[in-house]
Amino acid sequence: QHFAALRGTIVYFIDDPFLVGKEKAFVCHEDGLLIAADGIIKAVGPYVKIKSQLPVGVEIEHYEGHIISAGFIDSHVHYVQTGMIGSYGEQLIDWLNNYTFIEEQKLKDPAAAREMSSVFCDELLRNGTTTAFTFAAVYPHTVDALLEETERRNMRMIAGKIMMDRNAPAALLDDAQSSYEDSKELIQKWNGRGRQQYAITPRFAPTSTPAQLEAASALWREYPEVHVHSHVSENLDELAWVKELFPEHASYLDVYDHYNLVGRRSLYAHGVHLNEAEMRTLHEREAAIAHCPTSNNFLGSGHFPLREAKRLDRPVHVGLGTDIGAGTSFSMLATMNEAYKVAQLRSYSLQAVNSFFLATLGGARSLDIDDKVGTLAPGHEADIVVLNPRATKIMDVRMQRVSSIEDVLFVLGTMGDDRSVKATYIAGKKTYGA
Ligand code: GUN
Ligand code: FE
Repeated sequence: QHFAALRGTIVYFIDDPFLVGKEKAFVCHEDGLLIAADGIIKAVGPYVKIKSQLPVGVEIEHYEGHIISAGFIDSHVHYVQTGMIGSYGEQLIDWLNNYTFIEEQKLKDPAAAREMSSVFCDELLRNGTTTAFTFAAVYPHTVDALLEETERRNMRMIAGKIMMDRNAPAALLDDAQSSYEDSKELIQKWNGRGRQQYAITPRFAPTSTPAQLEAASALWREYPEVHVHSHVSENLDELAWVKELFPEHASYLDVYDHYNLVGRRSLYAHGVHLNEAEMRTLHEREAAIAHCPTSNNFLGSGHFPLREAKRLDRPVHVGLGTDIGAGTSFSMLATMNEAYKVAQLRSYSLQAVNSFFLATLGGARSLDIDDKVGTLAPGHEADIVVLNPRATKIMDVRMQRVSSIEDVLFVLGTMGDDRSVKATYIAGKKTYGA
């Protein structure tokens, strides 16, 4: 048996603090001990209480002054866009046409896809992200490349081949039938193989014909256990375009809903401009939104109405996403920093505890994998990040004035980035850090 034992300030969630409040949702053991056996968390609690459960001979890794959290979950990212971060000057539709559709064609080369997969996984782990919900490109081999890489590293990963049969360069198009067949083959090959899972991935309504959305719908009926991943309501020109292409539908989300693509295990990125009826539909169907603040700011898309989404009478599942390559950082801490400022611009303040929820259990609940990851409660997979709130000189100076755990988390979520990631564990094994 392989054991891991980590001592430090342990934080995790057992419920949604937006809904039940911090006191009922958030657990903190200031001097805590976590014990994992064969990749599963066996015990967690105050060090003095738990240490007797430590098998003889197992060495404790003592992370004094560090925060031990569930590994971050990036709820929306495009691994194939890793090479195009910071493409200058455009908003969504021009950015897609002028940069993104050029970049994604480079992944037609399987060797390029393998190389990118390796860079991407290294970057996730360096940033303490242990699971990602990721778009591949239209080419099926881009799913194989990533999931072969994550299988080797034993990372929990959810990926899907883009379905896209119009309004993009010919080299990036599939068709309704081939996208159905290729996706089906990938589901059969990958979904549930080790820690790999599949998402049916129509890029967004404007790049799929009704026939392709119908194919995606048929596929989900056949494989209800897989995920659905797309974009919704990111940019105002995009909304107008969807209205033109699908005039018979009441709203953007209604297009997906019409094809029964809104439900548990479906997640839509952005949702910046959702209306009340769409929020209600997301709530009723138990679908999720990925809040991607660095991307929304970078593309000038708008400010996601998080407080509206979390309204107590019809709360929506929300995770936090980097949306690389429109997003500007792989760091979920940097993404929290941006989420805080977006909330401020919408005239409310996002508590650090709530940000950490979005980046961990919130993402896991959004993806319906909260029985496996997103928290450090016993029985879950031991995907863990160890964070140093004194990683830089200025953070150290700041920390001299800080005492409560809320303030420590807020320092991390304001000043933190990859430099604050001391170690990352995948299924109980340290895969990043000295
Ligand atoms: N909408 C459709 N495709 C994309 C994409 O690749 N990135 C973002 N941010 N929005 C999209
Ligand atoms: Fe995206």
